[in-house]
Amino acid sequence: MISYKELGLVNSKELFAKAVKGGYAIPAFNFNNLEQLQAIIQACVETKSPVILQVSSGARKYANQTLLRYMAQGAVEYAKELGAAIPIVLHLDHGDSFELCKSCIEYGFSSVMIDGSHLPYEKNVELTRKVVEYAHKYDVTVEGELGVLAGIEDEVSSEVTHYTKPEEVEDFVKKTGVDSLAISIGTSHGANKFKPEQCTRTADGILVPPPLRFDILEECEKRIPGFPIVLHGASSVPVELVRQINQYGGKLKDAVGIPEEQLRRAAASAVCKINIDSDGRLAVTAAIRKVFAESPAEFDPRKYLGPAREQLKELYKHKIINVLGSAGKA
Ligand code: G3H
Ligand code: 13P
Ligand code: ZN
Repeated sequence: MISYKELGLVNSKELFAKAVKGGYAIPAFNFNNLEQLQAIIQACVETKSPVILQVSSGARKYANQTLLRYMAQGAVEYAKELGAAIPIVLHLDHGDSFELCKSCIEYGFSSVMIDGSHLPYEKNVELTRKVVEYAHKYDVTVEGELGVLAGIEDEVSSEVTHYTKPEEVEDFVKKTGVDSLAISIGTSHGANKFKPEQCTRTADGILVPPPLRFDILEECEKRIPGFPIVLHGASSVPVELVRQINQYGGKLKDAVGIPEEQLRRAAASAVCKINIDSDGRLAVTAAIRKVFAESPAEFDPRKYLGPAREQLKELYKHKIINVLGSAGKA
């Protein structure tokens, strides 16, 4: 058992309390490899933003649990070396079992999500409470979820959205003891968040999705005032990245995300954690495709992973400064 404190990490408690009060959101960026981690830390140090490094169960399998622990510890030291000891959380994204959450805590995670959103309400309460009881012994914070986002992740998937029922949130928070709550207000995972028939189209063919259900968010806030709320599926799927991918041989069709002004509005509310993964994937893919198309003889991975890392860093800085509002809050 390694405590996250020995790795120099923090849990999310204080970060969320400040974010809710200050009307901004902490970035939760997913990572699976070195370049993604470097880009996240560089962007957050340059903007002086706190950060949540987010690892899905698929990412944990991909990168290896032991390597991840040292990568997180390395990230803490790397940030200091770059000139700012920003607060860093290592968080399990969409944990699907008590055993996985327990194992992550033993390997140095400072925060875990237990996603029981697909279970019947009482089962979700039971599983979430079990994880909270274990995690809190080690001062690890826990995120729960009510309502189901459409989209596909490695372990949890749903065809359709089930909005969070505001009348359940107070009871859930009280019974489980969670530190934050993810809710479903119309976002979804991946780069195709809405079907074209759910959207309208601008004159130049850009898909405009239906607005988020801010009424549900407001109703939840009323019932649990000041309680940290989390927004998953918050990639905006920038049209310029989709265009870059398709220009250089990609075939992304009808990709559409959440408009950034809606995310800004959410960040100014009790939403204090915003999850972004797909936009990072798009930035990396766009940069690599460009190098491959323009320099087909290139075979040194640093020559395409380097530009990918740079494009990713710029994307993260943009999100921090212009969307989440967490710049300068470290
Ligand atoms: O919400 C899910 C994240 O984007 C992680 O995706 O399970 O493919 O690593 P993944
Ligand atoms: P996106 O697919 O919109 O980036 O959402 C990521 C997420 O919610 C991770 O938990
Ligand atoms: Zn998610």
